[in-house]
Amino acid sequence: MNPSLPINGQTQVFGIFGYPVKHTFSPHMHNAAFRQLNLNARYLPFEVNPNQIGEAVQAIRALNLKGLNVTVPHKTAVIPYLDELTPIAQCVGAVNTIRNDQGRLIGTNTDGHGFVRSLQEFGFTPQNKNILILGAGGSARSIIAALGQEHASRISLINRTQEKAEKLLEELRPMLPEVELNLGDLEQERDQNIDLLVNTTSVGMKPGESPVDLGCFLRVRRVADIIYNPRQTRLLEQATELGIACVNGIGMLLHQGCLAFEFWTGQSAPVEVMQQELLNQL
Ligand code: ATR
Repeated sequence: MNPSLPINGQTQVFGIFGYPVKHTFSPHMHNAAFRQLNLNARYLPFEVNPNQIGEAVQAIRALNLKGLNVTVPHKTAVIPYLDELTPIAQCVGAVNTIRNDQGRLIGTNTDGHGFVRSLQEFGFTPQNKNILILGAGGSARSIIAALGQEHASRISLINRTQEKAEKLLEELRPMLPEVELNLGDLEQERDQNIDLLVNTTSVGMKPGESPVDLGCFLRVRRVADIIYNPRQTRLLEQATELGIACVNGIGMLLHQGCLAFEFWTGQSAPVEVMQQELLNQL
């Protein structure tokens, strides 16, 4: 791999706002990408206390930082301080990437489209597909928005707390008028042709636990779990046992980063180098 260019007066500064931010993989991925493409740039972690998020966003302009990622708990809080949101960020109502265009701050969200890109691993495109989502939190929201923008025909949502799923569907429906968005029901989904089942809940992070028994469904063609640690959750293990193609959450993590890199630099991300770096860190 290329050595990093030395830091000098022209080094461009990128980074991530989070709280906490200690465990982020993003600096590894992005600094590897800068090295690979010989860019005079660095990516740093910034631990931003939630009561100072406004000042931190103002500092992007004041310090001429070129691009930021935004992670928990700041993804919604940054919005009032930005100048513009992309359509996907408007739809999701959360921002994970900010670009500084000469003082004009543009917010986008690459989580959902990063997820969609990770499905290319098994040749899946959302257009005209029937998709079942488990969970109704922030990840589900960004994934549904991206699947909708990519013309999925039907998306059903199942969540432990049904009211949360209903509320999320109500909020998303006006923004995705061409998608049939339903509250799912395990009994009803049983006989459906499900092109893709996605776990967005945290169930599966502990060994042996699974959000659903795949044996309950007659036809599930593919499974995605956004959990990346462990790499093989019980859900993915069961999918493999049943011969169903599946992916874990590493691809989403990788591709949200690649899309952020592209949003900042206008250059194609060096995906393989970023993937290698990510796998080294996990
Ligand atoms: P994220 O930003 O990763 O989506 P989140 O917004 O906290 O995280 O959402 C977590 C999701 O996992 C929710 O859908 C949550 O269900 P509830 O809305 O009922 O809380 C789901 N979840 C978390 N723990 C769960 C559990 N033990 N069983 C079922 N669902 C669970």
